[in-house]
Amino acid sequence: MYELCPETDADTPEIEALLDLCFAPGRSALSSYRLREGVPKVAQLCLCLRNGADAVVAAIRFWPVRVGGKPVLLLGPVAVHPTAQGEGLGGMLMRESLSRAEAMGWSRVMLVGDAPYYSRFGFSRLDEVEMPPPTNPDRVLGLELVPGAWVDVRGPVTRETTPEVHAALAEIESTADLSEACIEVEPLKESRR
Ligand SMILES: CC(C)(COP(=O)(O)OP(=O)(O)OC[C@H]1O[C@@H](n2cnc3c(N)ncnc32)[C@H](O)[C@@H]1OP(=O)(O)O)[C@@H](O)C(=O)NCCC(=O)NCCS
Repeated sequence: MYELCPETDADTPEIEALLDLCFAPGRSALSSYRLREGVPKVAQLCLCLRNGADAVVAAIRFWPVRVGGKPVLLLGPVAVHPTAQGEGLGGMLMRESLSRAEAMGWSRVMLVGDAPYYSRFGFSRLDEVEMPPPTNPDRVLGLELVPGAWVDVRGPVTRETTPEVHAALAEIESTADLSEACIEVEPLKESRR
């Protein structure tokens, strides 16, 4: 049994340690990080999973970006502790957060990652969307939460700079009582470890 919770400030150091463990050193040099700098995250969608020992074993985060002037959710990073990988936790975080994003009214999601993993959630290559270099275009993937949401949405991915959007996201991050929104969950897949 795991507890699924929105990320709070108290969780952040543990989540950063998990990300350091799961990703190669220098992860913050990736172009995705430039798009997140100075932009509040989408707090309701940044989720973490705690195990029975109350340790964070998995996390997912989302930021707003723009493509061709349209609002887009940038998914990532998502990480599962090496000792818990293959149990379905990554899939659970993906499905739960995407379902919440759809319920919030987001239309389109993108990420930079391995198509063989993300295709199972409906992601496919975005041929006409350009991440800041250096990014392998084969790893730029998108998902429509509303049918047709990626049609004619093309061009460079840019930071969300709209002051009203920043203010609204910052307000949610600082005032919403996200810590009370935890639920108990069970991964769908049996551990093979
Ligand atoms: C990628 C990651 C989040 C997946 O989480 P997880 O909990 O292990 O995933 P799940 O248990 O939901 O799914 C496991 C399945 O995904 C597959 N998978 C995992 N990573 C994969 C990858 N990079 N490419 C293709 N398939 C992958 C596994 O082989 C397994 O396949 P199966 O269902 O056919 O057996 C996790 O492995 C991780 O944190 N990796 C290190 C950090 C990372 O690479 N993050 C993603 C950035 S692109």
